[in-house]
Amino acid sequence: MSYDLIVIGTGPGGYVCAIRAAQLGLKVAVVEKRGTHGGTCLNVGCIPSKALLYASELFEEAGHKFGEMGIGVPAPKLDLPAMLAFKDRGVDGNVKGVEFLLKKNKVDVYMGAGKILGPGKVEVTLNADGKVEVLETKNIVIATGSDVAPLPGVAIDEERIVSSTGALKLPKVPGKLVVVGAGVIGLELGSVWRRLGAQVTVVEFLDRILPGMDSDVAKSFQRILDKQGFTFKLGTKVTGVDTKGKTLKVTVEPAAGGAAEVIEADVVLVAIGRIPYTAGLGLEEAGVAKDARGRVVTDHHFATNVPGIYAIGDVIVGPMLAHKAEDEGVALAEQLAGKAGHVNYDVIPGVVYTFPEVASVGKTEDELKAAGVAYKVGKFPFTANGRTKVNNTTDGFVKIIADAATDKVLGAHIIGPEAGEMIHECAVLMEFGGSSEDLARTCHAHPTRSEAVKEAAMAVEKRAIHM
Ligand code: FAD
Ligand code: NAI
Repeated sequence: MSYDLIVIGTGPGGYVCAIRAAQLGLKVAVVEKRGTHGGTCLNVGCIPSKALLYASELFEEAGHKFGEMGIGVPAPKLDLPAMLAFKDRGVDGNVKGVEFLLKKNKVDVYMGAGKILGPGKVEVTLNADGKVEVLETKNIVIATGSDVAPLPGVAIDEERIVSSTGALKLPKVPGKLVVVGAGVIGLELGSVWRRLGAQVTVVEFLDRILPGMDSDVAKSFQRILDKQGFTFKLGTKVTGVDTKGKTLKVTVEPAAGGAAEVIEADVVLVAIGRIPYTAGLGLEEAGVAKDARGRVVTDHHFATNVPGIYAIGDVIVGPMLAHKAEDEGVALAEQLAGKAGHVNYDVIPGVVYTFPEVASVGKTEDELKAAGVAYKVGKFPFTANGRTKVNNTTDGFVKIIADAATDKVLGAHIIGPEAGEMIHECAVLMEFGGSSEDLARTCHAHPTRSEAVKEAAMAVEKRAIHM
């Protein structure tokens, strides 16, 4: 069989690339070894974690918040197997949706492990019967994603010492959960299990949470999480976990060196980042170059050093986010079809789906300071927003950063309920090169949380009305 394009991996990068290429008239096949489509995101990432975040948030609200609004309900009872089944149904629905879309767009599907034999040749070992087929194609896209970064000396068994994958299906709420890494996974999945009853201690190597996010945002957010009952051990590293007894004994010590301490845990979640996944892909034999961190090296058009072989998503440089992978998939498909596909890496939103949510797009103050760019900041707290006040969800703020000379918005950062939805008006504004004045002059419906975005933009010139 001969194709215009074979995509290896059907995560958000791969399946979106395949569908867009098929829409544009290319003859496309995908190769996926997992057994289901959707990659990390749909199977063990974005989608199951958001199902548990949603369910656990409602569980906590029913227990703590309904009463204050005059809704009398008996204390909620956790049925963990049912909550996990709710999550699994959501995953199944999404995965089947991708299967349907691939079929609808007449993309040929090979369920098996793909290996690149060289330009234009992909070998597939089929999951069903182990048979090997060699497919021919004009172009190959590597969309094989990423895997959990291991913590040296701490072996993940996915039962007591888990990665995010194990943390999405714990059969029992741990009494004590130690999370290694105060990044996105640690705080999201830490939130899930804290809401369901675990005592959560987060051990972070750096002296702050959420590295990469605006440090002002990270500091405020940590205070909110402290109030919720998280315990943080910052500037601390895990040096080992003793698994001998019934309770795990986690040895930690200051990152800068010093006396060790032991923390007890029922479960340890290792969430210290993810690494590109290219095992068994034949990159060395095919001569495809990788960088020192194992990422496939590409140019601005996603081309590797080998003609006809491209790469997108978590396996290449850039934020490991599903929407970044998807946009790269679309851009590359369009380029391969002779169009002008493109991704604006300056406007890729990032969201932490905790309560409240943390959302960010564009530059942080830290980045602008380091680059020597002069900027102005407008900040508006949710304590001054009518809607959040009446809902009693006032933690957080909106912060708009604009260029001091041109007023062009360079970054937007929000901590607040549904910040992940609100961030997109800032993203669209930035995509069009808008200014804080544009945002401030745009009429926002009342009473909405989004009025805080407008007020933060007004605050850039110190003219917010409600503070
Ligand atoms: P992947 O989704 O990793 O897909 C790669 C696919 O390639 C896999 O299905 C794999 O089986 C397949 N594959 C690999 N090698 C081969 C081979 N040789 N042959 C055939 N198939 C192969 N991002 C967000 O934007 N929002 C979120 O809320 C979010 N939540 C997350 C929560 C968790 C717990 C985790 C772990 C990640 C989360 N992410 C989130 C990150 C997101 O999942 C990734 O950025 C995204 O999945 C990357 O897409 P991808 O297509 O590059 O790779
Ligand atoms: P991360 O990179 O977000 O955070 C890892 C944290 O671990 C960092 O704070 C780092 O300083 C810390 N760390 C590293 N080594 C350590 C050590 N030895 N001891 C203690 N701390 C250590 O990685 P995370 O949370 O594992 O997530 C992986 C990827 O998945 C991220 O790149 C993220 O983009 C993506 N993801 C995105 C989500 C979203 O968009 N909502 C949700 C979950 C994951």
